[in-house]
Amino acid sequence: MKFYLDTGNVEEIKRIVKLGLVDGVTTNPSLIAKEGRVFKDVIQEICAIVKGPVSAEVISLDVEGMLKEAHEIAQWAPNVVIKLPMTEAGLEATHQLASEGIKTNVTLIFSVAQGLLAAKAGATFISPFVGRLDDISVDGMALVRNLRQVLDQYGLASEIIAASIRNVGHFEQAALAGAHIATIPGTLLPVLWKHPLTDSGIERFLKDWEKVASIQG
Ligand code: E4P
Repeated sequence: MKFYLDTGNVEEIKRIVKLGLVDGVTTNPSLIAKEGRVFKDVIQEICAIVKGPVSAEVISLDVEGMLKEAHEIAQWAPNVVIKLPMTEAGLEATHQLASEGIKTNVTLIFSVAQGLLAAKAGATFISPFVGRLDDISVDGMALVRNLRQVLDQYGLASEIIAASIRNVGHFEQAALAGAHIATIPGTLLPVLWKHPLTDSGIERFLKDWEKVASIQG
């Protein structure tokens, strides 16, 4: 499973890139708004740090507006991916961009039907939102599992980005469900690598080592 960071924070990305864990980045209008910076600057900085796909979302709701934004954003960096909402206009724009060789990520996917349509329209990536489904007591991970089955069954090329990942369980289950990619917030990362038994294990080894150190003189 590939690993994307779900953030618009350049410093956070720089820190985590050093761990060799970042295959790509996803952003959305809310994440960009949190940074209080110029959208283009943020995306270009991220694209320079991360060599993999970096999703930047359009905000237009009509096809013409989406395509206008998409064509502009696509000029910003070679690894930028156009993120579009799962609507009729989003599907048409996705199909058009696919025919031009521009990569797309269809976002806000909440059902197998939506995912299948986006894949058929030519989306490079489809993003089912696991956490937001769990929030309304629907099994978000079942959607990821079912989408993977459907894509494989029909030989559709889209890759699934398990999005709206909120906890370790989501992360692990996304891998088991066959998500091609999980996009996770930087704040979740320490939770993934930490374990109380690792901490207590280090503590015990260091304590025991004090005895060895005293023997060495
Ligand atoms: C993914 O592309 C989205 O930006 C993100 O995962 C949404 O997560 P949230 O539901 O926690 O806002």
